[in-house]
Amino acid sequence: MTEKKQQIVLSGMRPTGACHLGHLVGAFRNWLKLQEKYQCYYSIVTWHALSSEYHNSKVIRDYTFEVAADWLSVGLDPEKSVLFVQSDVKEHAELHLLLSMIIPLPWLQRVPTFKEMKKELAEKDLNTYGFLGYPVLQTADILIYKASIVPVGEDQAYHLELAREITRRFNRFFGNVFPEPQMLLTEVPKLAGTDGRKMSKSFGNAILMKDPPEIIRKKISPMTTDTRRKRRSDPGEPDDCPVFTLHKSFVSKEKREELTQGCRTAGIGCVECKNVVIEKIIADLSSFREKRKYYENHPELVWDTLENGNNKARKKAQKTMEEVRTAIGI
Ligand code: TRP
Ligand code: SF4
Repeated sequence: MTEKKQQIVLSGMRPTGACHLGHLVGAFRNWLKLQEKYQCYYSIVTWHALSSEYHNSKVIRDYTFEVAADWLSVGLDPEKSVLFVQSDVKEHAELHLLLSMIIPLPWLQRVPTFKEMKKELAEKDLNTYGFLGYPVLQTADILIYKASIVPVGEDQAYHLELAREITRRFNRFFGNVFPEPQMLLTEVPKLAGTDGRKMSKSFGNAILMKDPPEIIRKKISPMTTDTRRKRRSDPGEPDDCPVFTLHKSFVSKEKREELTQGCRTAGIGCVECKNVVIEKIIADLSSFREKRKYYENHPELVWDTLENGNNKARKKAQKTMEEVRTAIGI
């Protein structure tokens, strides 16, 4: 193995259930590359999940397993990356508390995700102390490993900007303890889910990575395509077709160009075009599916791996916390 760069990468994923194709193209493809080059910490952020699922907290542990099994099956490698559970490294909570002392409330009250989520999930009552502090906890996740690279999607841009501000403020008060984390934006075309909206667990329109081939076929086959294609003889436009968002992430450029041409000239039908992407997704995930089954049958292996990761993460977090306590002077 080639020597890794010094910088530390950290990212987190909320345990909301089994991962879908959006996670694969939006996070995993990038995380897999990063683990070859950097020391990476990948965290299943159970406390972040709790901040919005506290009324249904018992699912979080099962979902943690689902996510961990997905991580291992997709090729995140515990020999290369530290794979761990946020709430098993209590030091995150201590740093969160300390950071909370220096953060002006308005910084948190103006976070767009806080305002939006409160509106969207009004029935959940997210007007809580913990939910307001969501970005503070996220900042603690990053700083406690002194991570300087944080791969996330653009929905996290504001959180990252805030994390940088918090870092500067901490360093100004207590001395230069932390590097300012840089956001590594993962630019990927948005995937449509089975109903044409953005693929998301909360919309119930996701294609799961662990879905068996017949389910993947069943989910994609009936999807709406470009509405211009009412009949087989009507030409269409792939850029206006939700299914083609899948092609953009799974089908080779050459094949896509051929399909685009076929769509625009009504040379191919939607059934044929969908089959291309369906079979490619199924093929791409074949080794994933095998490993996933294996881990489902050996859950203790998954938990042991996390336990190991927790121990590694904790060591580093404890070291940082010693520095932090010294810097603050208590
Ligand atoms: N808030 C992130 C999300 O919803 C998850 C997360 C928690 C995270 N802690 C993090 C991402 C630290 C990057 C770094 O996707
Ligand atoms: Fe979409 Fe393909 Fe049908 Fe065109 S041919 S509308 S890209 S499914």
